[in-house]
Amino acid sequence: MKVKSAEFIISAVNTDQYPAEGLPEVAFVGRSNVGKSSIINSLLNRRNIARTSQNPGKTRTINFFKVNDEFHFADLPGYGYAKVSKTEQAKWGGIMERYLSDREELKCILILVDIRHEPKEDDKRMYEWARHFGYECLIVATKSDKITRGKYQKQFSLIRKKLGLSGEKIIPISSLKKTGIDELWNEIADVFIK
Ligand code: GTP
Ligand code: MG
Repeated sequence: MKVKSAEFIISAVNTDQYPAEGLPEVAFVGRSNVGKSSIINSLLNRRNIARTSQNPGKTRTINFFKVNDEFHFADLPGYGYAKVSKTEQAKWGGIMERYLSDREELKCILILVDIRHEPKEDDKRMYEWARHFGYECLIVATKSDKITRGKYQKQFSLIRKKLGLSGEKIIPISSLKKTGIDELWNEIADVFIK
């Protein structure tokens, strides 16, 4: 996919703040710090259009980006960050739930998991939830630069087993080394061309 234009649209909390243009949308979900915002930057070929941080809990609202005037990306707050207060967690949970359960434009959910670790229960719940509602899902294994290529298959099996995947592909990505980005773009494009 050639990125001709990419712009930040809005940082939204409530549904009435979501873009109302009706463009199809891709959402990026996963645990805090897994690399959601970094992948958006890599896909859009921008350094910091989506704000990243080494401290988990950076993204606290839903940030919308418009790509090529054709579709939107939605960068979501991460889940599973224990250091956030229960009240704050409930607030982010509410923001995500409202979005995921009531967004007609949402066509594809990218579920991000760290390639180094077995997915957690909340990742599994996220995946099952997305499948239950019939969303097209792509599974992305982030930070692939942190392990050697020879270890990929073992990690993929772990991810596949824990999430209960059937035939779905797992796409290894490194936002640091910029590997896997073209492949991920192809997969995203496939969802929209279908
Ligand atoms: P929240 O907004 O807190 O939910 O986090 P996030 O999922 O958006 O993660 P973010 O993109 O902010 O990245 C978190 C940290 O991981 C940052 O320090 C990034 O530099 C680092 N990181 C992201 N992607 C990669 C990668 O591919 N390789 C390596 N080595 N580090 C990465
Ligand atoms: Mg983020």
